[in-house]
Amino acid sequence: MELEYHPELRDFTLRRPQLKLLEDVPLPDRVADNWEMVKNFQAKPDDLLIATYPKSGTTWTQGIVDLMNQNGDVKMCKRAPVYERIPFLEFFQEMLPSGIELIVKMASPRVIKTHFPIQLVPKYFWEQDTIVVARNAKDTLVSYFHFHRMNHRLPEPGYWPEFFQTFLHGQVSWGSWYDHVKGWWEEKDKHRILFLFYEDIKENPRREILKVAEFMENVLEEDVIEKIVHLSSFKVMKDNPMANYGTLPMGIMDQNISRFMRKGEVGDWKNHFTVSQNEDFDEHYERQMGHSSLKFRNVL
Ligand code: A3P
Repeated sequence: MELEYHPELRDFTLRRPQLKLLEDVPLPDRVADNWEMVKNFQAKPDDLLIATYPKSGTTWTQGIVDLMNQNGDVKMCKRAPVYERIPFLEFFQEMLPSGIELIVKMASPRVIKTHFPIQLVPKYFWEQDTIVVARNAKDTLVSYFHFHRMNHRLPEPGYWPEFFQTFLHGQVSWGSWYDHVKGWWEEKDKHRILFLFYEDIKENPRREILKVAEFMENVLEEDVIEKIVHLSSFKVMKDNPMANYGTLPMGIMDQNISRFMRKGEVGDWKNHFTVSQNEDFDEHYERQMGHSSLKFRNVL
């Protein structure tokens, strides 16, 4: 695809990062190295945070929230790529503005994305509205594997069996899926947190969109709800370059290797896990999640 959005990046290839520990959480080195900037960043009282483990439906939720803020106006939602409309708090990369640079230029109410586990989210955000979206671990793992293959902002994944183990042991960017989801879950009743599940949005997008609207204190006309349901569906978002990261060059995300909007399904893990991987996974999962009140559907 001819790159119109960032022509200066046409021939640019990003070096893949190393992982660095920040309070025991592995992060791409650029993120860990710039942590002080995130820590010192001042939120505004009407900022809304979307907090997810990677590959859990972040972009989907960003699409829904932005459509809601624009009252279902599709043109407004195509005003810029999703990473500019709802910047990524801990985004630091050569050649592109940082998330914080984009956020400070935005008019309120601002919506901000983060993948940080709750303990790394600066404390002033804890008192503000946050939408958390979580996805079952097996599909998240599969999606994260394919995302590593095509995305130079993450380390090389190695082969599938290798990545499978790396993920299980939390040695991937943004750390352990288990710690991430449990951390947010345990705090959800102490703060203004709406906790959503990818599988629920997939099952009944309208119902979950209405939960978001209620949380954001938005009263939506029926035709706007219908527009949001339609425009945030996988089949529409996958063809929208302002949602599907098609505005980035191959040297950052190579969508010939794997699409950003890859499958958008529940249960794709069944096409990847071997029987023995599934047994190992279930055993490990039970040890990590058995005592938690956080229950996912479609995992076993
Ligand atoms: P798959 O790789 O399983 O297809 P994130 O935005 O957190 O990075 O998550 C990306 C995952 O969400 C990808 O999963 C992507 O296809 C899926 N996704 C994005 N938009 C979606 C939508 N509108 N409906 C369903 N899934 C969506």
